[in-house]
Amino acid sequence: MSFRSVVVSAGGTREPWDEVRFLGNRSTGRQGCEVARAALETGADVTLVAANVEAALIPHGVKVVEAPTAEDMLRQMHAAAAGADLVVMCAAVADFRPIRVSGKITRHDATIPTLELERTPDVLMNLIEHRRENQTIVGFGALTGSEAQVREQGRKKALAKGADLLCVNRVGDGHGFATETNTLIFFDSQGTERGQASGTKLEVAEVMLRLAGEISQSH
Ligand code: CTP
Repeated sequence: MSFRSVVVSAGGTREPWDEVRFLGNRSTGRQGCEVARAALETGADVTLVAANVEAALIPHGVKVVEAPTAEDMLRQMHAAAAGADLVVMCAAVADFRPIRVSGKITRHDATIPTLELERTPDVLMNLIEHRRENQTIVGFGALTGSEAQVREQGRKKALAKGADLLCVNRVGDGHGFATETNTLIFFDSQGTERGQASGTKLEVAEVMLRLAGEISQSH
């Protein structure tokens, strides 16, 4: 089955530290944009909730909503997910953010600043808690280590998160971020491996959409 209304988050959040600095990560948003492109190809209405995504990566035809921080991501994903039958959390959302956002720090300040962090909301878990009837929710997980370690951690993460589908990719050591291709291993909410896909980020997105469709039908 194909989905009618798809919401995809993409990119990496930036958590303000002072007026000019932020804590960020290396996600470019390419994989999320390719999920959006694959969904458009199936004829779905697609909303891209974008955290600092380069405009050139965004496919024509999607509705774009900006969500630069984890807090924005939580708010915008909830709003967009209200009408969606497929929700894909592809964005690399910061797990921590500075507790205080100060005025601009300068190198001439009397003391060297320390950075105190607090946890951000887990958007994926929030979306799962508030899931609409007949809504399918897909998460991503970026894991490091050997292929065997990534599989084992992926299975555990799938069980812990409870998304209908968790797409696990290996990052670090030249894998994952800022690359044209990707390898994803898919787990369902029971932690069962449902397959693997390697190829361009569009090709792996197409496999993910097919699997999500199959899982949504078996509910
Ligand atoms: N995610 C989220 N909100 C956060 C952090 C992550 O919604 N504050 C989502 C991501 O979009 C992704 C999944 O959760 O779909 C990743 O889960 P997470 O536990 O953050 O895994 P990783 O960051 O990949 O790995 P870990 O934290 O275990 O190092």
